[in-house]
Amino acid sequence: MTHSPWSIDVATALLEPLRAEPGPVLIALQAIQGEFGYVPSEAVALIATTYNVSRADVHGVLTFYHDLRTTPALPNEIKICVAEACQAVGSRELEKALKAAYKEEVCDAFCFGNCALGPAVMVNGKLIGRATVAKVAEGLK
Ligand code: FES
Repeated sequence: MTHSPWSIDVATALLEPLRAEPGPVLIALQAIQGEFGYVPSEAVALIATTYNVSRADVHGVLTFYHDLRTTPALPNEIKICVAEACQAVGSRELEKALKAAYKEEVCDAFCFGNCALGPAVMVNGKLIGRATVAKVAEGLK
């Protein structure tokens, strides 16, 4: 998915229709990330001003949700489940192998609801069950 470069005009246009939403901060952060691929610091200030909340409130929501990013996304995103059921079938070993192969593109996640088919890995939003390094490589194609 391609994202737009940061633009305060585009961001402002995204935020205005959300004023009517109850508790619009999370929705606004998701909208900003959907458009730009991440939430730049300028967006935190804009959201705070637009919805009359503190920057600390916006920052608190931004840092609470792991799927919200403050830096541009890498070309690929590989999330490996390290919750108990997946650990029991080797997710930690798979995590080491994936980090050796793909370095910073690999991050931990906690349960995709695919526990019976662990270890579970999400590659660019696509779930892979009984994941292996080879299956992840195939998922990146
Ligand atoms: S524990 Fe890994 S998908 Fe649920």
